[in-house]
Amino acid sequence: MRVTMSPRHAGAVSRSHPEWELPMLIGHLSDPHVRPRGQLYQGVVDSNQALREAIDHLLRMDRQPDLILVTGDLVDEGRPDEYEVARELLDTLGLPYLVIPGNHDHREQFRAAFADLGYLPGEGPLHYCMDDYPVRIIGLDSCVPGAHHGHIDEAGLRWLTETLASDRSKPTLVMLHHPPFACGIPYMDEYRYLDPGPLASVLDRCANVELVLCGHVHRPMLRRWAGTVVCACPSTVTEIDLQLHPAAAPSSHAGPRGVMLHLWEPGLGMVSHLSQIGAFAGPYPFA
Ligand SMILES: [Fe+2]
Repeated sequence: MRVTMSPRHAGAVSRSHPEWELPMLIGHLSDPHVRPRGQLYQGVVDSNQALREAIDHLLRMDRQPDLILVTGDLVDEGRPDEYEVARELLDTLGLPYLVIPGNHDHREQFRAAFADLGYLPGEGPLHYCMDDYPVRIIGLDSCVPGAHHGHIDEAGLRWLTETLASDRSKPTLVMLHHPPFACGIPYMDEYRYLDPGPLASVLDRCANVELVLCGHVHRPMLRRWAGTVVCACPSTVTEIDLQLHPAAAPSSHAGPRGVMLHLWEPGLGMVSHLSQIGAFAGPYPFA
């Protein structure tokens, strides 16, 4: 495993990457908000069953993903008994997966829960770089302990600058929980990534960053930003309601739920698909 860890750890090293010539299918889940066994998310929705269904949905695809990414809020309250369930469910994937924390996670409980996977740093923010695949994955910890908004400090941005500089060619995905933009839904923008300018100026110089992947907003969203594209993934459990009036009151519904699939094909580029979870009429003739 080739991993570059966050600021207090080893620096990034340039290598040649013949595996770039290979295609790669990346499954992307977000915001499962796992609860302790037998408890419901917000007292009303079985988020553990919803994650089970999202995992089954991915495993039923006609082409198996090579890697799964989970962009934060793995659990709802940062409790060890929630992480125990999250691990148990994610391990049923039988596929490699990479996780980053969200504002509902607890940094140290998160680190302890996934330490044995070998890619999280032993201390400090949970930034890392995974170089084992045709697509390079950089995980960023945009969480501020005790708060719900997003931010990455100067040390984190320096580490990101050095890590990106170590490989300017390999196709790269950067993931962080908080989308670095205001989305127009007032009750989400209250908890947005504050001051995205410094992060934008780091990414703006990197033509090989194909996508920035996020969660947090519990809806699919796209935005052109910093010379790349930001793609927010729906939650596996609830959808934040699409209300754009500045005085709109916070609300959500149980669905539609979905996962994203990011397909890297050398020579063609990166294509992202939204795949909704559920039973739908059809199949119909294609003509
Ligand atoms: Fe969330």
